[in-house]
Amino acid sequence: MLLAVLLLLLPPPDARSAHGHPLYTRLPPSTLQALSAQGTKALQAAQRSAQWAVNLVAMEIQHRVHECQGSGPGRPRPQEPLLQDPPEPGPCGERRPGTVNVTQAHGRIVGGSAAPPGAWPWLVRLQLSGQPLCGGVLVAATWVLTAAHCFAGAPNELLWTVTLAEGPRGEPAEEVPVNRILPHPKFDPRTFHNDLALVQLWTPVSLAGAARPVCLPQEPREPPTGTACAIAGWGALFEDGPEAEAVREARVPLLSADTCRRALGPGLSPSTMLCAGYLAGGIDSCQGDSGGPLTCSEPGPRPREVLYGVTSWGDGCGEPGKPGVYTRVAVFKDWLREQMNAAPASREPSCRELLAWDPPEEPLADTAPPCAFYAHLCPGPEGACAPLAHQQCLQRRRRCELRSLAHTLLELLRGAQELFGPRPGMRRLAPALARSATSLRGPRRHPAREQRLHPGSRAAGVQFPKRRPEQRGDAHGCPGLEPLKQKLATLQDAHAWILQVPLERLAMDFQEVLADLGSKTITGLFRAWVRAGLGGRYVVFSSLVGLEPATLALSLPRLLVQALQTFRLTAQAEAEPEGAQMGMRQDQQLGEQGQDPPRS
Ligand code: ARG
Repeated sequence: MLLAVLLLLLPPPDARSAHGHPLYTRLPPSTLQALSAQGTKALQAAQRSAQWAVNLVAMEIQHRVHECQGSGPGRPRPQEPLLQDPPEPGPCGERRPGTVNVTQAHGRIVGGSAAPPGAWPWLVRLQLSGQPLCGGVLVAATWVLTAAHCFAGAPNELLWTVTLAEGPRGEPAEEVPVNRILPHPKFDPRTFHNDLALVQLWTPVSLAGAARPVCLPQEPREPPTGTACAIAGWGALFEDGPEAEAVREARVPLLSADTCRRALGPGLSPSTMLCAGYLAGGIDSCQGDSGGPLTCSEPGPRPREVLYGVTSWGDGCGEPGKPGVYTRVAVFKDWLREQMNAAPASREPSCRELLAWDPPEEPLADTAPPCAFYAHLCPGPEGACAPLAHQQCLQRRRRCELRSLAHTLLELLRGAQELFGPRPGMRRLAPALARSATSLRGPRRHPAREQRLHPGSRAAGVQFPKRRPEQRGDAHGCPGLEPLKQKLATLQDAHAWILQVPLERLAMDFQEVLADLGSKTITGLFRAWVRAGLGGRYVVFSSLVGLEPATLALSLPRLLVQALQTFRLTAQAEAEPEGAQMGMRQDQQLGEQGQDPPRS
């Protein structure tokens, strides 16, 4: 350590030395560039993790405040109540006036016309790691119905978010994390039988926004053949074509089971699938529309849209003689109701619930949420069961942590592999990257994904709540709120180093790696001075690098990890009082852009 400090304080000698032998060498610009690109990816992952940790607590605060407003003695209920959950009774399937008549029979998703903003208040979009993949339909305050095949190969709820419907004046749509994915237990990915899944949202949809639920069928059968129903989505404009940029809509008539079977052959199972469209072709749903709604208007003084189908599959898109296939929602009525009404303790807690949970040091006398589920599993009196249930709950929480950490590491590794190519010893990158991710993560939690939930963004595309100390007084009369606010403040401080870097400046810039050729270690590495920049600030630190292709590949992740740690420590020391900085400034040096960066 002392040696490192001394080395850093000594000015680096010239790259050439006496007797014509070079004593020092610099890594070439191409390696620095590749390293910088990799570093930028690591920074992005670190920022996403930090945002996520902060957002989780912010959401807990929102929940808490909401509960207190709703249940506190003498407190008025919030002006904008949450939607009903489970779905009925309550308003459903109501479209906004002015958005209804525009949906003409000639509209189409394949090749077709855009729906006016806010025309389909229950239509949502499902994103996997930020990538839109499927449509979905809001059926209650916290429930979205979609196609089970959307989750094939990606059942990890931590990676999914749902974007709710935009408002009638194009008001931006809210993005909500997914808490739980419940594919139909009999979904068959080969045949697409029972292609239905319920998605539970992490926060309930508020009536203050534009999103509204659709109605679910009351009877286990559809309106008569020939009824003109509506489909909507962001799916492809034609087969293998680009996805639509705005919602598209079309009217399609329901077809009889016989017509469908004749058109589509034995692949169609009328007990759980229905088909709709034109045998002439041309108007249809397409790739990307899956999970979206097929709704039919229920006539009456106030017409309501009822969800009869969920877009599932087709043979091409809009091909003559090949209507689209939709999962028959009406026959799953009981399953849907059962799932949405199930008591929380009847299901194993989701990873999101467990990661948001702060486990007590000691198991409590009786099992509380989110662990109550495990209490049902062990026999014996409640007192004896609680510690066991607590253990099981903690175990599952650890698995969830690993899952979320593994995902972040995989992303980093994927980046590293792109950078260095498949080389022998590549597997040894993992420990270095694992250390990096662990050291970067905030206290306890490390879920993998960024969520965009809260206004008040500092960095572009990054949204997290601002600290508002003046709100502290609100905590009176709302138990549990103050510790949560403190937790949020601590998290924000711990992650400030990365959260404060605006997205456009979130780039790592390795400027120089100068290796001392006379310092070869027994592992074939050389001592080196490294100068790196982040968002216009510079750090200098000493490290070890290899100079042969194999040793170089192995040593670069360490440089990356060290650079990240140095930025973090330097920023944290800067935020602390003068005395605390002294100890570390010898190890890490910092300069402002525009000034001459310090040379070691
Ligand atoms: N399976 C497609 C998806 O995942 C939906 C296809 C609908 N095709 C059709 N011709 N109607 O988005």
